[in-house]
Amino acid sequence: MYSPEHIRAWKKITEAVHAEGGYIFAQMWHTGRLAVSACLGGRKPLGASSLKLENWKQRFTPVGYVPTEEPKEMTLEDIQDTIADFVHASKCAIEAGFDGVELQGGNGYLLEQFLNPKVNNSRKDRYGGQRIANRARLTLELLEAVSAAVGADRVAIRISPFNYFQMPETHPDPVADFSWLLEKIDQMGLAFVEIMQPRAEMIISASARLELVKEAARARGVPEDQLDWEVSLQPFRKALKQTVLFSSGAFDGENWIEPIESNVLDGVVFGRQFISNPDLVERLRNNWKLSPWNMQTFYTPGPVGYVDYPTYSVKNGEGLNGTDEPVEVPLQTLKL
Ligand SMILES: Cc1cc2nc3c(=O)[nH]c(=O)nc-3n(C[C@H](O)[C@H](O)[C@H](O)COP(=O)(O)O)c2cc1C
Repeated sequence: MYSPEHIRAWKKITEAVHAEGGYIFAQMWHTGRLAVSACLGGRKPLGASSLKLENWKQRFTPVGYVPTEEPKEMTLEDIQDTIADFVHASKCAIEAGFDGVELQGGNGYLLEQFLNPKVNNSRKDRYGGQRIANRARLTLELLEAVSAAVGADRVAIRISPFNYFQMPETHPDPVADFSWLLEKIDQMGLAFVEIMQPRAEMIISASARLELVKEAARARGVPEDQLDWEVSLQPFRKALKQTVLFSSGAFDGENWIEPIESNVLDGVVFGRQFISNPDLVERLRNNWKLSPWNMQTFYTPGPVGYVDYPTYSVKNGEGLNGTDEPVEVPLQTLKL
């Protein structure tokens, strides 16, 4: 988001959300080594190092499926330019009416590439090396710069310490490194931090995914009696003493209550359930059944699979006749 046209277009959306009493944050990404030159006007993608993402096909390019490419290790100038881009995009987002911005610090994108010592493996400057203080420097500098521009209480970050998605290297010491990072972030007065669950997964089941994460923890020597702690958000909750903590990953109509009641989380984030249940909040409030999502329409262009799932409405207009028998009514296509 960088031009007046982008701001004008997004205003319609933020206004629609605010008209319904909602809040909306814009997520700010830099894809780093996940980008391909076909989408960058022929330029090389940038990365924490020149390490290429192996065995991962990229999608959504104008020329179809394109393999990943060797990135250019970012220079100090590239880093400064990137920070300036984030600041500019964040200011645009606020001008467009977003309530805040969330930096994408997970899912294998640029910030996670810097945080992971297996990917950030060759830099000799203050953004590289084995020390987490160096690998986390870009994330912290970005948060500081964006906070200075739009106010820390309008800034959030999403992280995925147990990530495999677009990151086959997986973090070798997620609890130590991300606890360190979160202790620093906790001093910044951010709007919230969002951490993906170790079980978060789109292809295999959440339980199979959790087992994989536990297996990886065993492999790096975590004793059996510490596994449940190490493969959980509890260490991160401990690191965040004063910051609101949200989490996402395989929450459904039932499992979202316990982590909030037990104070591990301040709020839960729904992804796929929100896609297939446009009135998700109402359904959870009323304990109505949730509709299943259709994976075939994820990550496809156009409105299908995004704005055409039905709401769960009460028969004869808001249940005024006393019946609570539900009927499904089609959601109106969003007019932008
Ligand atoms: C179609 C689709 C698009 C997504 N886009 C993003 C995105 O832009 N940024 C992001 O951080 N996560 C994105 N996600 C991941 C979700 O935010 C969420 O973390 C993931 O679906 C797991 O949570 P869930 O089990 O509640 O779905 C996307 C997921 C889907 C299905």
